[in-house]
Amino acid sequence: MRKSFIALSCVAVVASLGIVAHEHPFTEAPAGFDSPTLAVNPGSQSVSNGIQEPPGDTFALDQAKFEQNHDPSTGLGPVFNATSCATCHANGVTGAASQMSEIRVGHKDANGNFVNPTILINDGASMITGRSIVDDRSICEQAQEHVPDTENIRTFRAVLNTLGDGFVEAVEDSELTEVATHQPERSNGEIHGEAIQVPVLEAPTHTQIGRFGWKDQQPTVLSFVADAYVNEMGVTSRLRPKDVTSVCKVTTDPEDTPDSLGLADIDHFAQFIRGTKAPPRDTQLAATPDAQAGAGLFRSTGCNICHVETFHTAAPGTVLNGGTYTVSAALGDKIIHPFSDFLLHDVGTGDGIFQAGPPDTVDKLRTPALWGLHIKSRFMHDLQSLTVSDAIQRHKGEAKGVIKRFNGLSSDEQQQLITFLRSL
Ligand code: HEC
Ligand code: HEC
Repeated sequence: MRKSFIALSCVAVVASLGIVAHEHPFTEAPAGFDSPTLAVNPGSQSVSNGIQEPPGDTFALDQAKFEQNHDPSTGLGPVFNATSCATCHANGVTGAASQMSEIRVGHKDANGNFVNPTILINDGASMITGRSIVDDRSICEQAQEHVPDTENIRTFRAVLNTLGDGFVEAVEDSELTEVATHQPERSNGEIHGEAIQVPVLEAPTHTQIGRFGWKDQQPTVLSFVADAYVNEMGVTSRLRPKDVTSVCKVTTDPEDTPDSLGLADIDHFAQFIRGTKAPPRDTQLAATPDAQAGAGLFRSTGCNICHVETFHTAAPGTVLNGGTYTVSAALGDKIIHPFSDFLLHDVGTGDGIFQAGPPDTVDKLRTPALWGLHIKSRFMHDLQSLTVSDAIQRHKGEAKGVIKRFNGLSSDEQQQLITFLRSL
């Protein structure tokens, strides 16, 4: 309680200073793993970043919704991957990443274009089309999905961290394109991140630069959570109103309807994610001479051309997401350190799956944010790298020159850089 009071009053003081002294309105975003996953009284010990709650809502309630398990009577399925958001997004604290992964498949047509799979279910009597994700579970045996042999593009996709994503959402598109513009000149033309325009689900006809998901397939937190609710759990909402199959379905769409506060589950999920603090550093390790030397090497080898250290969020009051979202005082004018450019790159590990943007994105992936790396056990989009060194050595393509410089460091220097990564 006291902690959140102090955080709030600091924000208020700084915000008012910002209005007086225009030169330095930015302050560091609050960081902390402050949303512990509790079996009893979920969310009761959590501390938000100071975000203002809608009338009657609390951060604890938003988190409890994110942790709530569903069954078929509350809209789960017919096909799904897990029963709550927190089944996958939790590691000590709710909203973090985990070791969970999921299946994406497809194939190429005669012209080499990616085609989503057709998944026959119900002994061939029904089919699921229009998406590359194949869910692992179902509410009845007839709805179970299986990957057909014909779908020869196959990959696993790792869960991503959601903590601090409200700050990422509050970075204006122009900041991302600015980074993309300067990458070629910093890398002899080798590095050229791609920003793609994707539809904002909550503002039909409006597009914005995609920044969430491994393929930058969604531009806003609300768009992503609606997509996640239907794809991961089979729960339909006002933004994703149709299930992929009606086999064994016992509820009517949309399954996620407003509660007594006028908020649907997707609104609570978005409010929870937007209210989380940024993932914190391991401050003890970060203070060691090795980690500090490693930070310098991270920059001098050029890792930071893609894993961009610092962004600034838009000013409070800035209207984003096609006029549907206003940056609040808690999220505006903040300095964040995500260590990502949120752009798509071909680093030689492309999974061959097309989701959004031009066709050349099939072999690209978003630079993953490295904040929170010290609570991750497996790495890369497919979680196939069990050590950070292995993850580094898998970078090829656009990252070739940078990795060559990394390999040119002495082994002590390489260890320093890895110590720095472990402090993130
Ligand atoms: C079965 C595991 C699983 C469940 C359950 C799940 N997710 Fe995810 N989540 C993932 C995976 C995997 C990704 C990366 C998806 C991709 O890009 O292909 C992801 C990505 C995200 C992201 C994007 C984060 C970023 O920074 O790009 C958000 C936001 C998110 N999930 C929210 C949710 C919400 C809200 C729920 C509950 C409705 C949910 N997820 C349920 C596995 C899961
Ligand atoms: C050209 C852009 C680019 C450069 C340069 C680059 N990276 Fe990456 N990095 C990526 C992309 C894209 C991925 C995701 C690849 C995948 O999942 O297959 C990634 C993944 C990672 C991961 C795994 C993160 C996770 O959560 O799984 C680590 C660690 C990493 N990079 C560290 C580094 C280091 C250290 C350097 C410098 C030696 C570096 N990267 C240089 C783009 C880049």
